Amino acid sequence: MTTITNGNQLHEVVDGKERVLSIAVKGQLVRKRTVSKNLIFGDIALTDGELIQMMVHSGEASWTKERVIQLNWDIHLGDIVLVQGEIRREETNSNRLLLVASACTVQESWEKTHPQQRFEHNALESVVKEKKDAPPVALATKQTYENMIQLDGKNACKYHFSNTTCQRGDACHFYHGKSEDYAQLRQEWLEKRTIQKRAIAMVDGDPNDPHSKALKSQRAALFVEWLVDIFGVQLLSRGTGVLDVAGGKGDISFELQCKRNIPSTLIDPRVVKQRKTHIKVMREQLCNKWLHIQAELNDELVNMHKDHFENCSAIVGMHPDEATEVIVNTSLSLNKPFAVVPCCVMSRLFPDRVCNNEKIASYNDFVAYLKSKDPRIQSTFLPFEGKNQVVFLLT
Ligand SMILES: C[S@@+](CC[C@H](N)C(=O)[O-])C[C@H]1O[C@@H](n2cnc3c(N)ncnc32)[C@H](O)[C@@H]1O
Repeated sequence: MTTITNGNQLHEVVDGKERVLSIAVKGQLVRKRTVSKNLIFGDIALTDGELIQMMVHSGEASWTKERVIQLNWDIHLGDIVLVQGEIRREETNSNRLLLVASACTVQESWEKTHPQQRFEHNALESVVKEKKDAPPVALATKQTYENMIQLDGKNACKYHFSNTTCQRGDACHFYHGKSEDYAQLRQEWLEKRTIQKRAIAMVDGDPNDPHSKALKSQRAALFVEWLVDIFGVQLLSRGTGVLDVAGGKGDISFELQCKRNIPSTLIDPRVVKQRKTHIKVMREQLCNKWLHIQAELNDELVNMHKDHFENCSAIVGMHPDEATEVIVNTSLSLNKPFAVVPCCVMSRLFPDRVCNNEKIASYNDFVAYLKSKDPRIQSTFLPFEGKNQVVFLLT
């Protein structure tokens, strides 16, 4: 799926169509209207100033009320967001397009790139109007910069070197370098950024060298390798096999079932397209697809599939969002081994979590909170980028 970043691309894609079922749009969130806990509208400004209205509505795609509430907390004016979903024409005015989101993620947070600066939408509008005739003016003057990458001893423009989308052109007060040196400078910028990102991702106590951590894309394979080392193939293959909760596209289930012959059941409410690489390998190796229980893990689901849960070998979850704690609780109540790699703390969605009389506010608090549920629970670090701390129980 190509990502739309400007109005021309958008119009080319939607031209004459009632609907475009699968689209990704990247732009700046310039307006947000929270109609209710179930419904948010937002205006996304594309690089040429064209606005597209997006809608996030519980009941559409995999949005639940809780996820809409969480998204409302996560996205802020000025953020660069990537919205995936479908384009529909508005019922009352077919010239107006509506981007109905199935996913929305923040690519660059305004707060992080502009510390202590309010996002001014009007300033942006004037930038957009001026864009065709004159180079846009800087929106604001930033006094301090965090995580700036230096090239030739100067603060490099991340928009210019990441994807040449700096709207300020020559007026940009960050370094763009000479156009003939672009390829070389960009290569240097990318290398420096990779090192910086890995260093930032390191959590206190992680003994893995940030420079040698495997790419995020390999995390499923590395996690399963670790599961096999720790629990053993024999244990993992028992009964109905492993429950891969919040498994998304099935990366863990693929590694377990197709690469290791360990039965796996994916539990995730999301309907996802299977990866082409998985389909190819599965065809070649005549490997059966894992079971998919398309639902959220909760007590009701456990009761509904009592035998399957009671006979499983272990429950695992990689970056399972709001399912993290329920994986731990379910495993403890069924006395099953588990391994979970938490990612988001989601303190606003779970405001009542407390550990040592303190509210859970950070990632380290969250890991401590999960471990406090049973003295047998352990944790360690896995060698991949991003959140890589695994909390586990060997029964
Ligand atoms: C960040 S994605 C992680 C996907 C995959 N494990 C990975 O590492 O790429 C989080 C997934 O959790 C799923 N999810 C959220 N709450 C859940 C729940 N209660 N039970 C099962 N899955 C859940 C979502 O649908 C989503 O696919």
